[in-house]
Amino acid sequence: MSQSTAHKEEREFAFSDRDFRFLSELVAKRTGIVLADHKRDMVYSRLARRLRALHLTTFSDYCALVESDEGESEMGNLVNAITTNLTSFFRESHHFDHLRDHVIRPLAASNPSPKRLRIWSSACSSGMEPYSIAMTVKYALPNLASWDARILATDIDTNMLENGKKGLYPGEQFENIPAGYHSSVERLKQEGRICMADDLKQLIAFKHLNLLEHWPMQGPFDAIFCRNVVIYFDKPTQQKLFARMADLIKPNGWLYIGHSENLFNVCDRFELTGRTIYRKIR
Ligand SMILES: C[S@@+](CC[C@H](N)C(=O)[O-])C[C@H]1O[C@@H](n2cnc3c(N)ncnc32)[C@H](O)[C@@H]1O
Repeated sequence: MSQSTAHKEEREFAFSDRDFRFLSELVAKRTGIVLADHKRDMVYSRLARRLRALHLTTFSDYCALVESDEGESEMGNLVNAITTNLTSFFRESHHFDHLRDHVIRPLAASNPSPKRLRIWSSACSSGMEPYSIAMTVKYALPNLASWDARILATDIDTNMLENGKKGLYPGEQFENIPAGYHSSVERLKQEGRICMADDLKQLIAFKHLNLLEHWPMQGPFDAIFCRNVVIYFDKPTQQKLFARMADLIKPNGWLYIGHSENLFNVCDRFELTGRTIYRKIR
């Protein structure tokens, strides 16, 4: 018996090359996420839960379902299962220092009229990124109540957006939040969780948005966080995405990207000014 046959026989559900090809093409078309061959086991384990929930016995039945007219309602579950949502509070903390010192404080010092601040967290996952932005805004902007400050937090994964709206996180995350911001976080001792303060929640609007599709907002944004998401997309998709983001950022506004991402040969409308920090130049 060959190794691959043994491997297949151990599996709960039959999963052919054809099924994997079908699912990876569908996911790429709908979300931009490229599922290379080495992601095959990941796709199996994440979707096996869907097959169990739907009482299906093979992946080809699952593919037939999502291809059918009734299958459209399963697409959301498929997307939620496939996305990778790893995040944390103040991840890549230099971005929040930069936001405070080079975006918010200079804006406040310029005493603008109107007092408007707009920041977009464009792949916000469970919300720790927009809450980190909200804490930075709250503590850096004197007299916050006199400002029209809003943070738009979007993601394709509807489960993550529900988490974000609740603002409840595992207690271990507390240590990722700088001590100066702790008064905005309630520790729910019995539940072992932490809860975001209402004034932070009020700064953020969580919305469902697929970066590949239509964007209803008009901007302009002072800054966009697009971190650790384009790593899953191919280059043409990244090129289109950053060109659209450049259109929505204010002149001289800011773009933050993830630690393993860059705009080289992707978009020339920004200049690199710091580690994964870009300024719009055209
Ligand atoms: C690894 S998380 C990054 C979270 C956060 N930006 C950070 O850096 O901590 C990637 C997020 O991108 C989202 N995502 C993937 N494809 C997307 C798409 N086409 N449109 C919007 N969000 C997408 C996923 O649902 C996931 O929550």
